[in-house]
Amino acid sequence: MTSIKLTDNIYWIGAEVHSEDLFEGIWPTPKGVTLNAYVVKGDKTAVIELVREWGGASLTLLQNLKELGIAPKDINYIILNHLEPDHTGFTYTLRKLAPNAEIVCTEKGAALVNGFYGINDKVRNVKSGDTLNLGQGKELVFAEIPNVHWPETMVSFEKSTGILFSSDAFGSFGSFRGSIFDDEQPTANQPYWEAEMLRYYANIVATFSPSVLKAIDALGGLDVKMIAPSHGLIWRGAPKAVVNKYIRYANYNKDFAEPEVCVVWGSMYGNTEVMLSAVVKGIAQTGVPVKVHRVPNENVSFILADAYKSAGLVIGCPTYEYAMFPPMKYLMDILVKKHIWYKKAGYFGSFGWSGGALKDFNELSKNMHWDILDPITFKGYPTAEDLAKGEQMGNAIAQQVKDIPSKIKDEDY
Ligand SMILES: Cc1cc2nc3c(=O)[nH]c(=O)nc-3n(C[C@H](O)[C@H](O)[C@H](O)COP(=O)(O)O)c2cc1C
Ligand SMILES: [Fe+2]
Ligand SMILES: [Fe+2]
Repeated sequence: MTSIKLTDNIYWIGAEVHSEDLFEGIWPTPKGVTLNAYVVKGDKTAVIELVREWGGASLTLLQNLKELGIAPKDINYIILNHLEPDHTGFTYTLRKLAPNAEIVCTEKGAALVNGFYGINDKVRNVKSGDTLNLGQGKELVFAEIPNVHWPETMVSFEKSTGILFSSDAFGSFGSFRGSIFDDEQPTANQPYWEAEMLRYYANIVATFSPSVLKAIDALGGLDVKMIAPSHGLIWRGAPKAVVNKYIRYANYNKDFAEPEVCVVWGSMYGNTEVMLSAVVKGIAQTGVPVKVHRVPNENVSFILADAYKSAGLVIGCPTYEYAMFPPMKYLMDILVKKHIWYKKAGYFGSFGWSGGALKDFNELSKNMHWDILDPITFKGYPTAEDLAKGEQMGNAIAQQVKDIPSKIKDEDY
């Protein structure tokens, strides 16, 4: 992809990546992901965020600079809002090509520049409110947004144009579908972006939801006209829309998830699967939407998105060596890590002689603020009585989530 003009003298110079390599080594990106980097030109030239070498991304960045007539040696500032290597992997090489460039980041960022790239010289530490005048009317002001997504994270705001370079905040998985801008997306692309954005949030940002809300408050005073995150769409037509989406997502792990139920199940020999049908039948009777996922067949990345979004969550899996079926234990670990909290929850599962999965379920869910209905365990194949209980459990969970108010609805955009 070539460079893209945001406004006069401000360009996107990043890369779209389509790779089998997992994002962060965990999350698949079958629809691609973008590493957004930018250049702001005044008398001085600043590059904001970089890329990592991934599917040719660093070569693309260099070609984009070349196309704009910018030689790396003429770069004055390399602004690193966030030091995670998806944005900074190219720092070491670019610094060799641009030996005069000063690296600009927070104090915590500087420690990471040293840690990852062994660079200590020409590193300028900035904090909230500090500015960098590039000349020709272009001036950047910085604001720290710790823990969105790492402790050192900041944003850069270009005052004259109102462009907020927001780093991981307001980002999304997915590659561009014809345009980098929100206001050039056909309506038909909306479900695509909603799914990619939610999955990005659930996979990468969910744990830090309180910090997201704090950052949104802290940035409230800026007259933002365009949001240019480091992954996904640039929000030019409706920057408020992406802020509202992030507020909605950040409230999913409080008490305002969507009135839907997510059922995750795993089974070795089909006994637990028989109960799954009863539970899903009970949910369906209420008209509440239900999403069903199987472990380990489906990747946790996608399951996580639905689990995070849904007010109801049911886990079904058998006992395996006195404990929970291992692929479900892995999923539960991730749910714990990502703060998939405040669910109307349930458990069902088959066992042979001793059980053990339920003990794990209780242990793993204990700090999750889940409101758990009576768990259902059964020896081998479920009896008709067991199945009736399963149907009731599904029905009861769906009834409870039916009227949960979402904090922010799409129509508030
Ligand atoms: C590898 C393996 C380990 C198992 N370990 C236990 C166990 O420790 N305790 C127990 O009660 N049942 C154990 N079982 C029995 C299963 O929990 C039982 O067969 C159950 O019905 C399986 O449910 P499913 O058909 O949904 O896979 C084990 C089964 C397998 C295949
Ligand atoms: Fe990050
Ligand atoms: Fe990132």
